[in-house]
Amino acid sequence: MSFFKKLLSLFIKKQSYYHLISKPIIGKEEIDAVVRVLRSWTVAQWPEVGQLEKSFCELTGRKYAVAMNSGTAVIHAALYGLWIGQWDEVICPPFTFVATANAVLMAWATPVFCDINQDDYMINPKMIEAKITEKTKAIIAVSLYGQVFRYDEIKKIADTYNLKIIEDAAQSIWATYKWIPSWWLGDVWTFSLYATKNIHCAEWWILVTDDEECYEKAKMIRHHWQSEKTRYEYHDLGYNYRLTDIHAAIANQQMKKLDWVCKKRQENANLYNSWLADLYPIIQTPYLHEGNMHVYHQYVIKILSQDWYSRDWLMQYLKDLNIWCGVYYPKPLHLHPHFSRIWYSKWDFPVSEQASQEVLSLPVHPLLSSDDIFFIISAIKSYVNKH
Ligand SMILES: Cc1ncc(COP(=O)(O)O)c(C=O)c1O
Repeated sequence: MSFFKKLLSLFIKKQSYYHLISKPIIGKEEIDAVVRVLRSWTVAQWPEVGQLEKSFCELTGRKYAVAMNSGTAVIHAALYGLWIGQWDEVICPPFTFVATANAVLMAWATPVFCDINQDDYMINPKMIEAKITEKTKAIIAVSLYGQVFRYDEIKKIADTYNLKIIEDAAQSIWATYKWIPSWWLGDVWTFSLYATKNIHCAEWWILVTDDEECYEKAKMIRHHWQSEKTRYEYHDLGYNYRLTDIHAAIANQQMKKLDWVCKKRQENANLYNSWLADLYPIIQTPYLHEGNMHVYHQYVIKILSQDWYSRDWLMQYLKDLNIWCGVYYPKPLHLHPHFSRIWYSKWDFPVSEQASQEVLSLPVHPLLSSDDIFFIISAIKSYVNKH
């Protein structure tokens, strides 16, 4: 171990949270809210869930919100709500979490992958048109890492071919596209409050929309296709996508922290941006579109792998110093068996495949201090300088 690395490790021992790629914020407010719900005896879905849906409508300015217990559930419900089903095709990127495409399969539709941009890692609008057939009904665009996809171009295509846009905004609450909030874009906007997200309640998702029919269908599918008025009348195949008031109570508290959390992540990201800039082109900081506000759910650097530098070596080097980094995502979806068996094979989406070898997420969560960030920056610099 080099002298510098030893020094860093000694320093790190004094700190307890360097090593975490994410750290959920759980304050007294959240704990008190959970206790309040437990003491109320109404722990299932009511009234905190209702309050949460109302808060999301107020926050987003959209008419309807439906909360559910996972992202797959919400995207599935959105597809169902938009009348997308068997024989239909839905275009989405392969460089995303599997839930995006699994939900399409669950709706009995076919996911049609479209490669991504080299700069922002999101679906490449220039490649979408070639994928459209008479069966195409929708595009699921993923706002990856906390930045919104190239909406203008995608909207133009969607309007031309009469396609719906579902935004998988798992990672991008509060982000803006050309100063427009992400939740105003698309027919349905879906957002995650999973434990690692900018705000969280352990497990949980919400969809917002102005489409009344989609809203009604989503509510029914969430609860075994029963309507609120006709309990125990099952009008179609439904599921249990409900969540509990315990989760919703945490989320209601987290909503109050949204602004602070995102600003803190941006501050941390700005430190990385300024101090890592001189490592270009070996290390590249995240690409930011003009006019976009990035909320840095992930702070993702690109490592230009060469014989003497590699993403995986850098990750190991940082791990030895207890700095935990992540790779989102190490293998694009088309290379996983349930997609590759039927439709796809290696080299089909070269930009996604290359991205999976180059990206590295650094800790950026709001509980890191500027000293923590500087420590991580020095570790990265020491790795690059050593080679
Ligand atoms: C981009 C993206 N889409 C969808 C999901 C939904 O996953 P799950 O169904 O496990 O909640 C996630 C997970 O957080 C995600 O990151």
